[in-house]
Amino acid sequence: MKDTLKTATLTLNGQTYELPVLSPTAGPDVIDIRKLYAQAGVFTYDPGFTSTASCDSTITFIDGDKGELLHRGYPIDQLAEKSHYLEVCYLLLYGELPTAAQLEDFETRVTRHTMVHEQMQNFFRGFRRDAHPMAIIVGVVGAMSAFYHDSTDINDPWQREVASIRMIAKMPTICAWAYKYSIGQPFVYPRNDLDYASNFLRMCFAVPAEEYEVNPILARAMDRIFTLHADHEQNASTSTVRLASSSGANPFACIAAGIACLWGPAHGGANQACLEMLREIGTVDRIPEYIERAKDKNDPFRLMGFGHRVYKNFDPRAKVMKQSADEVLELLGIEDNPTLQVAKELEKQALSDPYFIEKKLFPNVDFYSGIILEAMGFPTSMFTPIFALSRTVGWISQWKEQLSDPAHKIGRPRQLYLGETRRDYVDIENR
Ligand code: SDX
Repeated sequence: MKDTLKTATLTLNGQTYELPVLSPTAGPDVIDIRKLYAQAGVFTYDPGFTSTASCDSTITFIDGDKGELLHRGYPIDQLAEKSHYLEVCYLLLYGELPTAAQLEDFETRVTRHTMVHEQMQNFFRGFRRDAHPMAIIVGVVGAMSAFYHDSTDINDPWQREVASIRMIAKMPTICAWAYKYSIGQPFVYPRNDLDYASNFLRMCFAVPAEEYEVNPILARAMDRIFTLHADHEQNASTSTVRLASSSGANPFACIAAGIACLWGPAHGGANQACLEMLREIGTVDRIPEYIERAKDKNDPFRLMGFGHRVYKNFDPRAKVMKQSADEVLELLGIEDNPTLQVAKELEKQALSDPYFIEKKLFPNVDFYSGIILEAMGFPTSMFTPIFALSRTVGWISQWKEQLSDPAHKIGRPRQLYLGETRRDYVDIENR
């Protein structure tokens, strides 16, 4: 970052402090408060980090007002249309679009790491059959450090690279096996002759009893969904990965922490919650009732798949997802899918309602994704695992970026303490 030589002046308790202002290549200037506590003896207070930059990064940039999402400078709508997920993975990991030779080498390396240590199957079998796939995936990914110990030394660049490839390569297998386990079907092994998205669909839907032909249109839609979820600046789960990594934790433990955070319905769990909400609404005539509930401060109900901390305009991913939903459902001959009709009417009514307009609430990435995934045959419990699969490259890219910064240190926020001041212990007979 460039020091702008501009400063922000803080006057406190009769003292004046000049704080450096740093300028980004895009987005707002940043006031550097790293020395504030040492100089002024005060903390800043920003629970939820609404006005706080936790790090510097060169990977992804979001312009919330314009509704723009850039990965290494390339707009998400262009990547979704012209690129494919493993090429986007290369871009996020290494900073530039690959040449044909680089892409072929990268895809070969990922393909050769898609198998999972055979003994890890015992982990899956330790869960109840009705365990949520996210519970299984958190456990299995966390346990990877016990099976892939030769890529856990974060100070070895080669081990960091191997761990990165292993995570990206094995998540589809782990997610597919979590699904298979939950429906009592045998695990299906990856195949090296299939592309990344086709391999995942086959591992989810093939059975030993008959051949499974991957529908190329569904594979393309699956690949696009992976791309649309790949990375998103310092969202809650990525920040979790960075904080876990700052203590020196191994990459698999850090990714497991990110998966656990993503599961929440305010974050990656919203795609499952959104589809369940659309099903609960059921018919278009019940939409006004739910919009009123979402506006009612006394009702905890929120429109799932709506709103975003950063986007105060359309989430560009939601636009692409909506187009993809139309394509996939038309292909499957279910364009009159009632859930899609409710979603489109709900979006129309919400976007014309003063409450949503004033609060700048638009559909986000989770609003349409569930409709496509359900049409592909996935149960709602697999929606967030697919988000986690897609976001693994973003977590890993941000993890690598943080570790490559020699100045990085353990994250240790302070607090605004509102508890009791010092007092002496009182024996029980005197209480
Ligand atoms: C993801 O951070 C990322 O980048 C995340 C993500 C990624 O790719 O990593 O984009 C993925 O997590 C998308 C978001 C998925 N979550 C949902 O769809 C759940 C529903 N959305 C909300 O819970 C909410 O919009 C959040 C959590 C997404 C954002 O919340 P903020 O930024 O903390 O905003 P807020 O809660 O302060 O809301 C501002 C106002 C509030 O009203 P007031 O208190 O000011 O009167 O808007 C209201 C909220 O009540 N509001 C909603 C609403 N979202 C916000 N009201 C009704 N329905 C909603 N969905």
